[in-house]
Amino acid sequence: MTEPLRLGIAGLGTVGVGVVKIIRQKANLLAMRTGRPIEIVAVSARSQGKDRGVALSDYAWEDDPVALAKRDDIDVFVELMGGHEGAAKDATEAALATGKDVVTANKALLAHYGHELALMAEDAGHVIRFEAAVAGGIPVIKSLTEGLAGNDISRVMGVMNGTCNYILTRMQSSGLPYEDVFAEADKLGYLEADPNLDVGGIDAGHKLALLASIAFGSKVNFDAVALEGIGQISIQDITLAAGMGYRIKLLGVAQKTGRGLEQRMTPCLVPEHSPLGQLEGGTNMVVLEGDNVGQIVLRGAGAGEGPTASAVLSDILDIARGTRISTFGQPAKTLDTIPAAQSQTPAPFYIRLSLIDKPGSLAKVAAALGNSGVSIDRLRQQDHSGDHAQVIIVTHKTARQELDIALSEIENTGVVSGTPVALRIETV
Ligand code: HSE
Repeated sequence: MTEPLRLGIAGLGTVGVGVVKIIRQKANLLAMRTGRPIEIVAVSARSQGKDRGVALSDYAWEDDPVALAKRDDIDVFVELMGGHEGAAKDATEAALATGKDVVTANKALLAHYGHELALMAEDAGHVIRFEAAVAGGIPVIKSLTEGLAGNDISRVMGVMNGTCNYILTRMQSSGLPYEDVFAEADKLGYLEADPNLDVGGIDAGHKLALLASIAFGSKVNFDAVALEGIGQISIQDITLAAGMGYRIKLLGVAQKTGRGLEQRMTPCLVPEHSPLGQLEGGTNMVVLEGDNVGQIVLRGAGAGEGPTASAVLSDILDIARGTRISTFGQPAKTLDTIPAAQSQTPAPFYIRLSLIDKPGSLAKVAAALGNSGVSIDRLRQQDHSGDHAQVIIVTHKTARQELDIALSEIENTGVVSGTPVALRIETV
């Protein structure tokens, strides 16, 4: 096929501009690799007048992304606006309804409406591709849907929010508190417009839900992801964890268990010498485990113009070549509804609490843990500050529910100040 593949691109922020640049700079290479020219026909963004550092005058301009999506001179609608409601959703639906394939980087849209959109696309014989939505430049969707398609996947894990990994690793290297490093990340432009998407774990939770759907053949279920952000992680926790040979990561884990599908995006301790433990700065890492392949570790830039645009191009080039893969790796109507696991796989936990220094305090804490069947593996009492001592406990494997009962009993003993911190120690 030598007909050009005609694109309409909605959203000319960092990623959109990156896509336009690659298509302009590598036109010959892309045509050779796919056998047909890749042509931008029309673009759409909020402000036409803004200088974006790339020539746009060759392309038709649409103020309204829905009008762009409906144009009959495009084959593929490339949605790079973001947001899970409003224009992005309307324009994606309009594109599918008027016969286009869709390439998107929009994890929020797919985490909320991915199943409906996939059904809509597949009923009409179209594809939705979203490599750029998960872990930026890392080809993780392609790995799951193609490279590892001959495996039953047992577990998907990963650090999928570069901003959180930047904050946590920078706290460790600088010794600065969370608030200072958060402000630094803000100054560097790392934070989403709504920072809670990053530090609240929501952005990474969207990504995990999408990977879980492909990995386990289940309908995407973002609401079932247990989410916890990094806002409560103190420099003390980072330092104490390091002293015990661990690093703290905002870690996503999805696995199919006898209790249902477990999906969590929570701060966890991981061994410092593991690949995940060694991940520094704004980088992402995804770990995939399959019955035949064993463990695969993918590492790379999770955001930014070049890496994210590279992932968008991968989807566009597949469509140009005629590679048509179902949105979630198998037809949407064959996806299962796997019930969400109501409890998490037992694990050891790190607990930090501020203990009032008086006779019998530690005994009350130990008794509360024992009453819930939580067994202590290691215990360390730090220097006293005033009439309090920091106590660090590492438990043997325990169920989170039992630990939570113990922690509320501990809070009610009157011998601790504040709320104890409890972080899971993940086997990676
Ligand atoms: N804000 C994300 C991150 C990138 O920091 O990794 C977009 O999902």
